[in-house]
Amino acid sequence: MISVDVIIKADYDEVCREAARIILEEWSRKPDLVLGLATGSTSLGVYGRLIEAYQDKAIDYSRVRTFNLDEYLGLDETHPHSYAHFMDQNLFARININRANVHRLQGKPRDIEAHCADYEAQIKQAGGIDVQLLGIGRNGHIGFNEPGSSLTSRTRAMTLTRETVADNARFVSPGESVPRFVLTMGIGTIMEARLVLLLAYGSNKSDAILRAVEGPVTASMPGSALQLHPRTTIIADEDAARLLSRKEYYRWAYENRDQMTEFLE
Ligand code: F6R
Repeated sequence: MISVDVIIKADYDEVCREAARIILEEWSRKPDLVLGLATGSTSLGVYGRLIEAYQDKAIDYSRVRTFNLDEYLGLDETHPHSYAHFMDQNLFARININRANVHRLQGKPRDIEAHCADYEAQIKQAGGIDVQLLGIGRNGHIGFNEPGSSLTSRTRAMTLTRETVADNARFVSPGESVPRFVLTMGIGTIMEARLVLLLAYGSNKSDAILRAVEGPVTASMPGSALQLHPRTTIIADEDAARLLSRKEYYRWAYENRDQMTEFLE
């Protein structure tokens, strides 16, 4: 379907279950699925479900390939605040992924531009990203493309906004400094993924969800770029979806999705 599909779920747990269900479905069609992954609190629950699926033998990750969205500049992968460490702790160490299939941006590359260009080349070489998992910042960032990022941006270095630095402080012990610089896939990079799953929960994301889904497409709201993506599914809980004006339609379309699928098959 050429549209942004919006799925509204009762709570965070259901949001994560739905996202994991879709990922499993995509994997069943393509066991060497290329997954784009995010860090942060929203994706944690999805990783929990993906680990459970592995324990239940519902998925085999041995051929799955992954590309992470972003990394803090200045932190190497063993640093406890690095996103590499986050991914190891919360997913990779607990599933049968082949480490050679895990791709990530380095926090301390010798040459940033060359490293970012190489990352883009690796994504192309893998045949592109099949499913890109995304969270969204309160200010609408996707990956760490802060407001004002070009809608055609590619993987590059970014300075986080003060707001994002403050939001990320919850992952850092009191007194420790929060990194301000990152490498991130660009909006243009994200837009090339075949399926984008953007998840949000909690009322502090409701304004970002409203503007991303129903507002104008603008670089001032990076999430709104997804309105131009051919296959994006937004999965939000009731709190994050509370400001959407077309809520009843989204629910109606979701309830009728099986009948719609019959026509498409
Ligand atoms: C993280 C990332 C960010 C987060 C966003 C939401 O890799 O790219 O865009 O997805 O900041 O973070 P949480 O889920 O912690 O609210």
